[in-house]
Amino acid sequence: MPVIPLRNGGPAARIAVIPGDGIGAEVTPQAVKVLKAVAAPCKRAMEFVEFDWSADKYLREGVSLPPGAVEMLRDEFDAILFGALGDPRVPSNQHAADILLGLRFKLDLYVNARPVELLQDRLTPLRDRTEKDIRMMVFRENTEGLYVGVGGFFKKDTTDEIAVQEDVNSRKGVERIIRFAFEYARKNGLKRVCMSDKSNAMTFAHDLWQRVFKQVRREYTDVDSHHLYIDTLAMEIVRDPSQFDVIVTCNLFGDIISDLGAQLAGGLGLAPSGNIHPGKTSLFEPVHGSAPNIAGKGIANPLGSVLTSAMMLEFLAWTPDATALRTAVRAALRENYVTPDLGGNKRTPEVGDWLAAKAVEALGQT
Ligand code: NAD
Ligand code: IPM
Ligand code: MN
Repeated sequence: MPVIPLRNGGPAARIAVIPGDGIGAEVTPQAVKVLKAVAAPCKRAMEFVEFDWSADKYLREGVSLPPGAVEMLRDEFDAILFGALGDPRVPSNQHAADILLGLRFKLDLYVNARPVELLQDRLTPLRDRTEKDIRMMVFRENTEGLYVGVGGFFKKDTTDEIAVQEDVNSRKGVERIIRFAFEYARKNGLKRVCMSDKSNAMTFAHDLWQRVFKQVRREYTDVDSHHLYIDTLAMEIVRDPSQFDVIVTCNLFGDIISDLGAQLAGGLGLAPSGNIHPGKTSLFEPVHGSAPNIAGKGIANPLGSVLTSAMMLEFLAWTPDATALRTAVRAALRENYVTPDLGGNKRTPEVGDWLAAKAVEALGQT
């Protein structure tokens, strides 16, 4: 998908690396390896600083997001490369909520950009669909909705228990993500924006989405825009994905739709994302989680993390470097130099090494 907004484009960048748990800690070093390989030939000075924030640290020290971390990341780093958080030993998922949701909220990363792009025809489970059919950008609102953690229990652990989880939607929050989607479409020559909500059932929160959408779309008459309820959107994406260029939706629906989209484009192992506030320190992570079912086996697919790194490079306005990473990923798919989830027999670090070499080779050819 086309580029996302620029940070600065300068020749140097400081990147905070948070590998996290499970396969996050396996795929992230591969992405860093590939990034380091292209930095020198591209004459970039990339400094990587790793942080061990994870379930291990949380269980060992009781620390999730350390005090001062948000300010440090905001003031001292250009971008954050993140792996995944989630560990069966922390059933509450508290450390992930503190770290991942904490950074999304406290750095005000209101755009969660999750491109769905089929890179090779054979990877989609949809019959007769090809690369040209599956190419859309999902913009997920990333700072409010059902994720804000407002709610509570009443009469917990009794038969009369009540649990409340509030859906918080501000006019400002809804407007900025919808406007971002239209701006993105306009800047990239994309014709269609689809806003999706559940306003037929969520008659307050999503009524706000309806009203803001109608107001903002009036400023973008050059872009075709339409609305689908989220249940219909899920069905339509499977029936005919070629009808979508840009989708914008709320936090929870964006989470679900992006996993659906990921599967249509080859699975979670390939899906990248960026948590972005234009012009400010932003966080880039693959869409997948820590995958405890395959963690430690050396078979996690690093391509999602490498495509995520390409998004990060575009955010830094380092387009040739980003292109080299994408070229390497396409080559790995073409030559079947991939992990078992994509039908290959390669191990995670082997794919990382191969991509690093291919990315450097790709630079020489441009
Ligand atoms: P998951 O994304 O970790 O895994 C879902 C399925 O996809 C599993 O079968 C897994 O093996 C497979 N998979 C995912 N990434 C893969 C890769 N790179 N290569 C090969 N196969 C891959 O989702 P889950 O199992 O529902 O969640 C596991 C944990 O991760 C939970 O604690 C969850 O909360 C957390 N999680 C974290 C993030 C994040 O940090 N951004 C995202 C999603 C889930
Ligand atoms: C994601 C994840 C997170 C989310 C979880 C781990 C809180 O699923 O990044 O997609 O729901 O946002
Ligand atoms: Mn998710």
